[in-house]
Amino acid sequence: MFKGRDIISIRDFSRKEIDYLLRVAKKVEETPEDRLKVLQGKIMGSLFFEPSTRTRLSFEVAMKKLGGEVVGFSEPALTSIKKGETLADTIRVVENYVDVIVLRHPLEGSARMAADYASIPIINAGSGAEEHPTQAFLDLYTIYKEKGRIDGLNIGILGDLRYGRTVHSLTYALSLYNDITLYLISPEQLKMRREVLENIRDKLKFKEMLNVEKALPELDVLYVTRIQKERFPDLSEYERVKGTYRITLSTLKKAKKDLILMHPLPRVDEVDVEVDKTSHAVYFKQVKYGLITRMALLGLVLGVF
Ligand code: CP
Repeated sequence: MFKGRDIISIRDFSRKEIDYLLRVAKKVEETPEDRLKVLQGKIMGSLFFEPSTRTRLSFEVAMKKLGGEVVGFSEPALTSIKKGETLADTIRVVENYVDVIVLRHPLEGSARMAADYASIPIINAGSGAEEHPTQAFLDLYTIYKEKGRIDGLNIGILGDLRYGRTVHSLTYALSLYNDITLYLISPEQLKMRREVLENIRDKLKFKEMLNVEKALPELDVLYVTRIQKERFPDLSEYERVKGTYRITLSTLKKAKKDLILMHPLPRVDEVDVEVDKTSHAVYFKQVKYGLITRMALLGLVLGVF
């Protein structure tokens, strides 16, 4: 189902395939680490053209926990890209050294292009503002683990829905599940991309709104994102929307007791640190689930699970 496949867009996967990945992740979580040397002899290329803490480190640790090795870079300025080498040539070179490539790149379409050139699997670790499919896998795993199901939930997505790649992938993924109501909450300038809405329109119920207060009592899950300052073509536009939403202890007074509050991280100021100590906050558990999900994904793509 996953062996040898590129992981470029969440839209390339069916619900059956995603549910299978989530089941494998659960098995990985329940399996003692000393039985997981299944990727001994395999090497992952970790090519990060943009900053990352979670995605890069969790993929690298996932590979090592499975017995594999990692080569790569997180500072392209120290590679031959600085001399003018193209992404296509970089991929055609690195694929000779490794068994799978994890790629983060600022350009939309970059992961798809890399996959066109490579004969080994390419895993998209974030392609500009477009998509972040492995974040969606771990977000689904978090919801499944914390709520026991994904179907039938009321899910709010709050923040930068225009430039946030994690929310694009998550929205596409949720459209594969049943009876979900999605509340898309953002400042006017940061509304969900129209192309995403056109894709999900016939698949799930959604409502667009400008602030979270009205929807909050209905929500089972609230997924918050930061404003993606680095994606704005005009910084004055960012200055106009920065700080326009913030989840505090006071905001959460109207929430269901068992609401879970998710965030792909990094956080800037959109979730007050006071919220961290509430039972709603699961964003640091989400980090742990990310490692597990990426272990499952690497094992599947490399054909050992
Ligand atoms: N969530 C996420 O993609 O974090 P990083 O940018 O730190 O990888």
